[in-house]
Amino acid sequence: MIKNTKKSQKKNILSLEDVSISYGTFEAVKNVFLNFKAGDITSLIGPSGCGKSTVLRALNRMNDLIPNCSLKGTVLFDGTNIYDKRVDPVEVRRRIGMVFQQPNPFPKSIYENIAFGARINGFTGDMDELVESSLRKAAVWSECKDKLNDSGYSLSGGQQQRLCIARTIVIEPEIILMDEPSHG
Ligand SMILES: Nc1ncnc2c1ncn2[C@@H]1O[C@H](COP(=O)(O)OP(=O)(O)OP(=O)(O)O)[C@@H](O)[C@H]1O
Ligand SMILES: [Mg+2]
Repeated sequence: MIKNTKKSQKKNILSLEDVSISYGTFEAVKNVFLNFKAGDITSLIGPSGCGKSTVLRALNRMNDLIPNCSLKGTVLFDGTNIYDKRVDPVEVRRRIGMVFQQPNPFPKSIYENIAFGARINGFTGDMDELVESSLRKAAVWSECKDKLNDSGYSLSGGQQQRLCIARTIVIEPEIILMDEPSHG
């Protein structure tokens, strides 16, 4: 019998092949093999300190920014090893967005937290509309609509987290990595 379910047709969009990640001489993650299917929502579950954030940051090269963090193995994104010398990590991070465990709005107004990335990305349409629709998608519009010019820091922790989600989705990344954005 030929199995032809929708699930089996999904391609691997991200694959870890024998990935080990170290901080200095401490090997935090050892020999990980993992496939993520396009279109799926996948959770990584495990006890505190087991390496979830470390693995997530490896998927869009955010670990590059941590001094003394090093990676062995291969991370394939749509068939390309993102650790290949020819790959631009900034482009990787544009295509694979991230929302961090701790909310980190830009030190700018709520409006600018959204508009900034959109502008850098070349957006020339109706910015007011884009800001509103992004904040709506992240379920934080009602709390923000009357204070768009206030600092992003004026929001509660949970609201800041949703602002960061709005800021991430406005770039329309192909993948969003969320590190426990459950604050508030
Ligand atoms: N910048 C760092 N320098 C040195 N060691 C680190 C660093 N970041 C994480 N580690 C260590 O790597 C291991 C994995 O940490 P990581 O933050 O990935 O765990 P986690 O599964 O995300 O935990 P939590 O559920 O608490 O967020 C831990 O032992 C941690 O102490
Ligand atoms: Mg973590």
